[in-house]
Amino acid sequence: MVKRLEEQRRDITKKLEITTKHANSNKRKAVHFWKLWRQQQAPQNKIRREPRQIERDNLKKCRSTDELIGEGRFGCCKKMMYRGRVVAVKHFKDCSDKAVHNEAATISELDHPGLPFIFGVCTKQQPFLLVMEYYGINGTSVTIARALKGKMLFGQPEWTDVVLQCSKAIAYLHSKGKIHCDLKADNIVLQDSDGVTRPVIIDFGKVKDITTAKTKKLSLVDQEFYRKRHKHIAPEIVRGTHPPSTASDVYAFGLIISLICHYYKFENLRRIAVQCIHGTPEKRPSMDAIITTLDNNSV
Ligand SMILES: Nc1ncnc2c1ncn2[C@@H]1O[C@H](COP(=O)(O)OP(=O)(O)O)[C@@H](O)[C@H]1O
Ligand SMILES: [Mg+2]
Repeated sequence: MVKRLEEQRRDITKKLEITTKHANSNKRKAVHFWKLWRQQQAPQNKIRREPRQIERDNLKKCRSTDELIGEGRFGCCKKMMYRGRVVAVKHFKDCSDKAVHNEAATISELDHPGLPFIFGVCTKQQPFLLVMEYYGINGTSVTIARALKGKMLFGQPEWTDVVLQCSKAIAYLHSKGKIHCDLKADNIVLQDSDGVTRPVIIDFGKVKDITTAKTKKLSLVDQEFYRKRHKHIAPEIVRGTHPPSTASDVYAFGLIISLICHYYKFENLRRIAVQCIHGTPEKRPSMDAIITTLDNNSV
């Protein structure tokens, strides 16, 4: 009897070993095919080239002073000279070279007049730098926020055109499978180009791929903090019910348009803003739909 039981035990152990071996082999195959499938689903995740390294010595101060044009939690931005051109140099603090390379790679993969042109990075030593074209009006860096506060600029046709140019730049970004995730009036600079004011969207530190953006659960305290301090983050992201999406970019863009309408009573823009900041992401218009509305407005 004992002998028979012992034989049965050995038999079962052997079968279990074989089954485990099969399961592990199938698991490896599944992971392999899942990775292949992911690569096919996200062609924009292709191998990224290292960004161009700039020689630090080629960067000079403008008029022998450090001209600070912006300061944030992750560093500051200075107006400098690079091989005879005026450039904006983002200085990073407490940031990995990987994060700087990601921001630089994203910008260099995009080619649109409403998005910045990048010259390269300095990531061989601290502080890490990102060097891009400088955009300004009469030599001064002017964000949409500053233009509104300073009561600068123009009337309804000009603001409508700025909103239209921004919409085209965001639609282009979305068509490349990217979401900006940090659209706000401080992250759009205005450029005087041949007498026409053109917006350029900056700050690609939070950009995500549409296909891999993830839902994030925030504590109730953090949710409250975001609602107060980061109003441009869409409510579904703060609640943790949806991942960042093209619709959450549309929400943030809607708040920028609302801000313009806070200073100027532009009925055409106000109507678009109301649609963009709809509480339900699925009910917000796409950037292409916004462009069509604005184009029809201007006819
Ligand atoms: N290319 C640029 N041309 C002109 N001003 C710029 C440029 N890039 C950034 N700035 C200015 O520097 C500020 C900070 O830059 P940003 O990239 O938004 O950094 P942060 O991640 O610290 O917010 C902007 O709000 C803007 O005023
Ligand atoms: Mg910024």
